[in-house]
Amino acid sequence: MKSFRLSIISTIVRFASVFLIFEFILFDSNAQTAPHAGDLLRQMTIEEKIAQLSQLPGFPVPEYTQQVGTPIDEIIRKYGAGSVLWVSDPKEINRLQHIAVEESRLHIPILFGLDVVDGYHTIFPAPIAMASSWDPEMVEHAQAVAAREARAVGIAWTFAPMVDVARDARWGRMVEGAGEDPFLGAAMARAQVLGFQGRQPVDSEHVLACVKHFAGYGAADGGRDYDSSYIPEELMWNVYLPPFKAAADAGVATFMSAYMDLNDVPATGNPWLLHDVLREAWNYKGFVVSDANAVHSLITHGYARDGDDAAYKAFSVGLNMDMASGTYLKYLAGQVRQGRVSAQQIDEAVLPILEAKIRLGLFEHPYVDESRIDPVLNSAESQSLARTAVQCSVVLLRNEGKILPLDKNRIKSIAVIGPLGDADLDLLGLWGALNKPAPTVSILQGIKNKLGTGVRVEFAHGPNIRRDIPSVFEDYPMITVKEQPKQAPGGAKRALDEAVATARRSDVVVLALGEIALMSGEAASRSSLKLSGGQEELLEAVSATGKPVVLVLVNGRPLDVSWAADHVPAIVEAWYPGNQGGNGVADVLFGDANPAGHLPVSWPRTSGQVPLYYNHNRTQAPEDAPDFTSRYWDISSQPLYPFGFGLSYTTFSFENLKLSQSEAKIGSSLDVSVDVTNTGSRAGATVVQLYIHQRAGSASRPVRELKGFQRVHLEAGAKYAVQFRLGPKELQYWSPSAKKWVIEPEQFDVWVGEDSTAGLHGEFRLIQ
Ligand code: BGC
Repeated sequence: MKSFRLSIISTIVRFASVFLIFEFILFDSNAQTAPHAGDLLRQMTIEEKIAQLSQLPGFPVPEYTQQVGTPIDEIIRKYGAGSVLWVSDPKEINRLQHIAVEESRLHIPILFGLDVVDGYHTIFPAPIAMASSWDPEMVEHAQAVAAREARAVGIAWTFAPMVDVARDARWGRMVEGAGEDPFLGAAMARAQVLGFQGRQPVDSEHVLACVKHFAGYGAADGGRDYDSSYIPEELMWNVYLPPFKAAADAGVATFMSAYMDLNDVPATGNPWLLHDVLREAWNYKGFVVSDANAVHSLITHGYARDGDDAAYKAFSVGLNMDMASGTYLKYLAGQVRQGRVSAQQIDEAVLPILEAKIRLGLFEHPYVDESRIDPVLNSAESQSLARTAVQCSVVLLRNEGKILPLDKNRIKSIAVIGPLGDADLDLLGLWGALNKPAPTVSILQGIKNKLGTGVRVEFAHGPNIRRDIPSVFEDYPMITVKEQPKQAPGGAKRALDEAVATARRSDVVVLALGEIALMSGEAASRSSLKLSGGQEELLEAVSATGKPVVLVLVNGRPLDVSWAADHVPAIVEAWYPGNQGGNGVADVLFGDANPAGHLPVSWPRTSGQVPLYYNHNRTQAPEDAPDFTSRYWDISSQPLYPFGFGLSYTTFSFENLKLSQSEAKIGSSLDVSVDVTNTGSRAGATVVQLYIHQRAGSASRPVRELKGFQRVHLEAGAKYAVQFRLGPKELQYWSPSAKKWVIEPEQFDVWVGEDSTAGLHGEFRLIQ
């Protein structure tokens, strides 16, 4: 993406001229009835077909300009276009659509695609936060809101969900996915696809989803973004592929191939991934788009000799659409003429793209109706759902002495401190800030909204935080979020002193630390997980005042908060909470919402522990053995907080674990039930999690694997029997010895509880 650096000025000039020229609104007066895709194909020239296989950049991209040169308007007029990337201004969408629908020979509408990841206008918490809710239904509703808003402005295709399993917190894109677990990841993938696309067929309120990045991107060497991934086949099937399969099973319309080399073959030209797995094993019928410029990057990888070879290698393994590199446009027609690529192959690649446009109703309604935009974007209901999503996704990590919830009636003064305390766009994360976000409520503002005038709320910013190496995205005109300014010499010291003084004159301190938006996401990997830029010093200095401190983390990945975990009474993980962030966080801090988020990742103590994940294998020195201390001699090898962990203002007990059978035949299912009781004095929710372990077999199996979960809300004192079913799908795994999916006649352990260390245990045997 680095090579996607833009010429800001030319883009601004271009968009400005668009506003001047196209003030009229284009409605559906020239709408067509949907044709049959096969009829269309028969009328198309080879160039028109290849244009459908191309996504044109909606902004200047050097590779595209070098290879193709022709302005996109001209391509659209002459041949049409499959898609245009990253245009989100409805006027520009209508202008380009007008060219396609009115001026091109076959009038085929354009499919506009954009990264609507955590919302378009209503910005929900970032995906890792949404996964922390363990609430697929809520996630589905949120993505339905995102779809409605995107569709209202003319975006009919989103590049989401991102379902890359991530076990290494150094990797910046952990924030975009559902964390480390394939089972939770699959549930989140399915929910998001259903939210974006609706139940079939896609209507005018929904968009096509694109599951990405196929596959293995999260295992980048050293957590360095774009680095090669080396993943054995059994880990691909058992860990990295299940969320993609879940998306495919949920009917996801499109896949995006990843950037990196997978086992030495770039994902965008990888025959095993794109053909053997996707088309053969999964029989997937939708279309596949490359990641941005990734077809051309096959040359950079040293996989393709030149553009011609790159186009061939990507196309021949089944990659339908070239995102923005122009490589298909430049080379594919020649390859058809030379007989290297057959006309039938081209037709097969174009067909699902045309069908997607038909399914979306783009032929009948190609244009944005601008009068519909405002009512859709300004929905109080959507904002309220965004606030609920924050309440559901915040994870309470520590609450010593029950310092939380804060008592509105007793506190007279509160200090909000920290470089993220008054942040607005930074609460949205990178993708949230890309689109047209609704006004963001900062944590400071959220607290003020909650407290009214009777309580003194003071803010001290503390030192500014910046990346040491700037983000490539800072220059992108559509990315509105920026670095914090550099402070004047001496500024950081003064900011620290002010923060400490503010803390001293307050009853309680809310300290908002973490990462600004540009510190997480694409091209935002880091070697250390420490609180950067003087934040640790701020934390320790403020804590030294002796005032009760609540640490609120705003970030895209677990950070090294080992000191805080010993010294700060309350730690609240807010992630990037979206545009209702401040309100939702304040709801939790003051007890108007009872937190029930649970971690979708194992939380490392330091970056030296990563990759870290709960579902590792049992070794010859098992960590559950009585004499086990640590795999390291300097620190514990256990995470600071385990996968699945999260506290509440109430407590829950788990008892009466029952299995329907102690022996079950392979191919049948067992039922597991457990009684959950809210043992505290207030209503709240917990996430009941079920883990299994297969004790022997044709391969070593993980110590624990999540195979079921339910978020359960209970009134104080209430008890509920939670039911799970363990069937063939949960009990199978891909065996590296057998080289296939197996269910084996072995003994299994079962645990149920509130995190991956759950103690309530049962067992059963599978028999032939
Ligand atoms: C990212 C994708 C994204 C695409 C288009 C790429 O750099 O890797 O996740 O969908 O850009 O914005």
